[in-house]
Amino acid sequence: MSMTLAQAKEKLHKYGQEHVLKYYDELSAADQAALLEQIESSDMDILDSCKHQKELLERGVITPLAAMELPEIEANREAFTAAGISAIQAGKVGAVLLAGGMGTRLGSDAPKGVYNIGVTRELYIFECLVNNLMEVVRRADAWIHLFVMTSDKNHEATVKFLTEHGFFGYRPEYVHFFQQKMALAVDYAGKVYLEEKGRMASSPNGNGGWFISLKEAGLLDLIRREGIEWLNAFAVDNVLQKIADPCFIGATIRKKCVAGAKVVGKVTPDEKVGAICLEDGRPSIVEYYDMTQELMDAKDAQGKPAYHFGVILNYLFNVEELERIVAQSLPLHVVEKKIPCLNQDGEPVKPQEPNGYKFENLILDMIHQMGSCLPFEVVREKEFAPIKNKTGVDSVESARQLLEQNGVTL
Ligand code: UTP
Repeated sequence: MSMTLAQAKEKLHKYGQEHVLKYYDELSAADQAALLEQIESSDMDILDSCKHQKELLERGVITPLAAMELPEIEANREAFTAAGISAIQAGKVGAVLLAGGMGTRLGSDAPKGVYNIGVTRELYIFECLVNNLMEVVRRADAWIHLFVMTSDKNHEATVKFLTEHGFFGYRPEYVHFFQQKMALAVDYAGKVYLEEKGRMASSPNGNGGWFISLKEAGLLDLIRREGIEWLNAFAVDNVLQKIADPCFIGATIRKKCVAGAKVVGKVTPDEKVGAICLEDGRPSIVEYYDMTQELMDAKDAQGKPAYHFGVILNYLFNVEELERIVAQSLPLHVVEKKIPCLNQDGEPVKPQEPNGYKFENLILDMIHQMGSCLPFEVVREKEFAPIKNKTGVDSVESARQLLEQNGVTL
């Protein structure tokens, strides 16, 4: 039984959101109940955050964090790989596909992973990722549990697609879905938008909530039962990335770090990727929009750019360390976005320009909670082909080119 109308009014009044009930009387009984349920379950404490954006994102003291670069990796490749393979064979490694995002820049309503990037044949983004993971499964001769995070907006479509395609050959009992949480979306005055007369506008709450959501879905029990000690979390949109890469896992273990981050050398100091660093002595990532000229010009002890390495959203986390930090809150990012909503006349509109804020937690902030982190350099042309846009930079076009360069038939 969800809250009563009186209780909903009281909650909305507390947060100055009474307008949410504007169309309540017009709704069917089922829609009324659904709206009350959404009001009850929504976190409205976050709404105030858009008024304190500056304070939310204040940074500590940034200093360099040395990466393990290619020559060192090459010199130790065999030993690292062997260590990674034995961890995989011992069942200590799991993979987490972050696929809860909306992929709005790609301009399709479907989940990003179902996008067909083939030219002469069908080749879906999900398929590329499974193929990449299968390479390691074959090499280690051991299956790796794959956890797939979806959101309210794309869960059904994702599960249906992967099931219909037989998980592209992955063993179904090694695939586990879980859903992330949603966060309300507001206009510039902090008022929650309605996306339907009986529904507040909401969007996935960012990729930083994945471990909490995985835990709430009961999957931590499976992780403990199976003895999984490491989780490799990765983005849905990098079709070239190596997943559960034995060399990366082995290097992180050998260096006695509790986390690892795959990084690439930035092409220009102001490239739009987050730079790995230390912040107040702990591993951290400076977002490209926080990169000051001073940081871009800074040099390390060898005279090389001190903040040269950018993250590619492929991280390794030690499970015990994740359990330690799970109760710690992550900073909330208030992001300007285009939010589909009802206009004054109650008709649905899809704005062409940003019209308000969404609230997100980001996985990169989890790195700052880790006791240590190994930045592990990879060759960009071999491991980084993100698909964010339809054309241009980081697009379907650029990813196709990179896939072909790496011998993938499209
Ligand atoms: P992006 O930051 O590219 O966001 O996500 P997005 O929502 O996919 O795309 P745009 O900005 O709307 O175009 C980076 C990775 O984090 C995942 C995405 O699925 C992608 O793998 N992600 C993002 C989530 O899993 N949940 C979220 O709430 C946001």
